Amino acid sequence: MQSNNAAAARDPRIEALIAKAEAATWPADDAAFWSSRAVRPRHISRAKYRAMVSQIYHGECTTLAVCKRLSDEIPDPLAARFLALQADEERRHAQMFERYLEPLGGIAPVDPGLGGAFARTLSWDGPWQAVAVAVNVILEAETIRLLLRSPHLFSCPKLRTIIDVVTRDEARHLAFGRLFIAPHLAALSVEERRRIYLWVLSLWRECIYTPRGGVLALVLRFKRRRLRRLWDGHNAAMCDIGLVSEGETVAA
Ligand SMILES: [Fe+2]
Ligand SMILES: [Fe+2]
Repeated sequence: MQSNNAAAARDPRIEALIAKAEAATWPADDAAFWSSRAVRPRHISRAKYRAMVSQIYHGECTTLAVCKRLSDEIPDPLAARFLALQADEERRHAQMFERYLEPLGGIAPVDPGLGGAFARTLSWDGPWQAVAVAVNVILEAETIRLLLRSPHLFSCPKLRTIIDVVTRDEARHLAFGRLFIAPHLAALSVEERRRIYLWVLSLWRECIYTPRGGVLALVLRFKRRRLRRLWDGHNAAMCDIGLVSEGETVAA
């Protein structure tokens, strides 16, 4: 189904996000910074710490692949421009995490639950809006929440410097997702939107309800009630952009 091609082209808020991305500066390639030691939290083993930070790296790589796919499929030059800038930023995020991980033993494999969800995201063959919701609305929000609200996991000063840059950019990507997708969702049928909603829910469940002992269990050691509240927040965001109405949402 054809979406409203002019939606972003006339939106000054998206132009403002593009201007911010173009003006964003990056930390210099500072040899002293990169040779400084990573300080692992005492309560986490080296192997688990490496595995945990590696999941963020894998998320960045998936987001980069999604940006490339969306910029090919989205019939909107302004949105494509933003996505090209976002792809540059995701690539640099991945490079920073990779470089951080080098002295810790390099990148660890992706968690099976997360890897499955990433693979299903990239192989989705329905409307592009689904992938944009999964990444620019849910994954970006989860990344920001994780990086900013888990100081017991991400206390290393070297890592915090990287996280400051990453969360600055992710907040912009999230704002774009919420602004841009809404008018394009209106172009889909109720059945298509419902299908996308349930697909996104299945991805989220696949990531969150990870087997005990997996690396994500370390990151997401929440009680079930807390997980439900997290999903309630995503439900509110998906209602705001018009993917579903409140009455159509389901609990985590
Ligand atoms: Fe990123
Ligand atoms: Fe991002």
